[in-house]
Amino acid sequence: MIGQASLDLFERGNKVLVEGVSSASRGPAAFGSAPRYMSHGEGNRLYDVDGQEYIDWMMAFGALPLGHGHPAIVETVTREIARGSHFATALEVEVEVAEILVDLLPHVDKVRFANTGTEACMAAFRLARGHTGRRKIIKFEGHYHGWSDAVLINTMPQPVSILGHPNSPIRIPDSSGILEEAWMDTIVVPWNDIEALERVMAIHGHDTACVVTEGVMSNMGVIPPKDGYLMQMQELCKKYGTLFYLDETVTGFRVAAGGCAELYGLNPDIVTYGKALGGGVPMAAIGGSNEIMSGLEWGKVLHYGTHNGGRLALHICKTMLTTMLDDNQAGFKRMRKLGEKMTAEIQKVFQESGKQKMICQGVSSMFQIFFTEKEEITDYREFCEHVDRIKFRDFAVKLFDKGIYMNPSATLHSLSSIVHTEKDIDVTAKAIAEVVREMDNDI
Ligand SMILES: Cc1ncc(COP(=O)(O)O)c(C=O)c1O
Repeated sequence: MIGQASLDLFERGNKVLVEGVSSASRGPAAFGSAPRYMSHGEGNRLYDVDGQEYIDWMMAFGALPLGHGHPAIVETVTREIARGSHFATALEVEVEVAEILVDLLPHVDKVRFANTGTEACMAAFRLARGHTGRRKIIKFEGHYHGWSDAVLINTMPQPVSILGHPNSPIRIPDSSGILEEAWMDTIVVPWNDIEALERVMAIHGHDTACVVTEGVMSNMGVIPPKDGYLMQMQELCKKYGTLFYLDETVTGFRVAAGGCAELYGLNPDIVTYGKALGGGVPMAAIGGSNEIMSGLEWGKVLHYGTHNGGRLALHICKTMLTTMLDDNQAGFKRMRKLGEKMTAEIQKVFQESGKQKMICQGVSSMFQIFFTEKEEITDYREFCEHVDRIKFRDFAVKLFDKGIYMNPSATLHSLSSIVHTEKDIDVTAKAIAEVVREMDNDI
């Protein structure tokens, strides 16, 4: 049960913070009621203000491949903070981190650092338009590229009855306060359907600056791309002179060292990174070929930011990358192995379970559970129609009481890190089996 200290903080927080938190995804909108307030983390564990311990499978939305308080990060911060957190000047560590990235990512000749995924995506869209001189952007239903106005449409689950024909989805802004002018040139297409994209490209391809895609659909749980789909998308972009923009904010330094580009053998024109890249602090990057990235030179396509390439953040980023890449990428291999094992164990629990209809989908270190009658969820509309999000939220909240922390939003996902263990997987699988039994009894 949620403890009194969390409840007290929620009451206090509600007086001074919107919903008692700093983002709707951390408060009652996601949790159904008061969230548990966390006090600290250690390795693979989170501790709340009531002293309850959790195995953390949320890992700050994927920002923590090394877990909480990794000794290498603690050593880096302790050493570097005394030498200056941020100068907003040119830095040696900036060059060093960029060299690591360019070395690792064959599709990247140059990078530009930003702070968050949203900012990096905003700069990438501007760069794509600046580079091509074209107006339009093609994005996919259910894909999220930050909360900027131009792309904050069709990112949330909706009743399928209001989505329109898949050949011409109705564009639905996800927030008040967004002017139609902002997204007028953003076209929305169903994902994982190459014919749908071909149809739209035949009409708009020559006026489209970029097609932007998540490599794994990561904001409707975890939905992998169909075999060859992303490669076909890349080819289609080439045909129309449209930039192929792979948004790796979630998947970069997560599904593989080189993200989805490596996993699916892609050669995107523009990429953006965030989350895991910062190893727990805000850090993001835009990357691409010399030709495309030169658009940012001298502010031809403008991208500013007081905190771009912050000194401390870059040192943390360097430590995260070198730790994960050490010993022939052992960290990335371990994170992947643990994620895949967790997915397989959960699938086993569901196969053996009684009345509940549940599946677990995963790619590398990412996994998500869906309450659904379907054997597989392959696109946004299936998610909207066939995934019971309230049931998942209740399930996740029950798991809290068993010391397992997964984000209660069905649209998000869980993640492994290098500090998870086989034992965590066993304990989690047992807890899930218990919760499933309890839910069976409630039917
Ligand atoms: C694919 C994708 N792009 C961009 C973003 C925005 O990143 P941030 O939350 O760091 O602004 C997110 C965040 O979840 C994301 O999932």
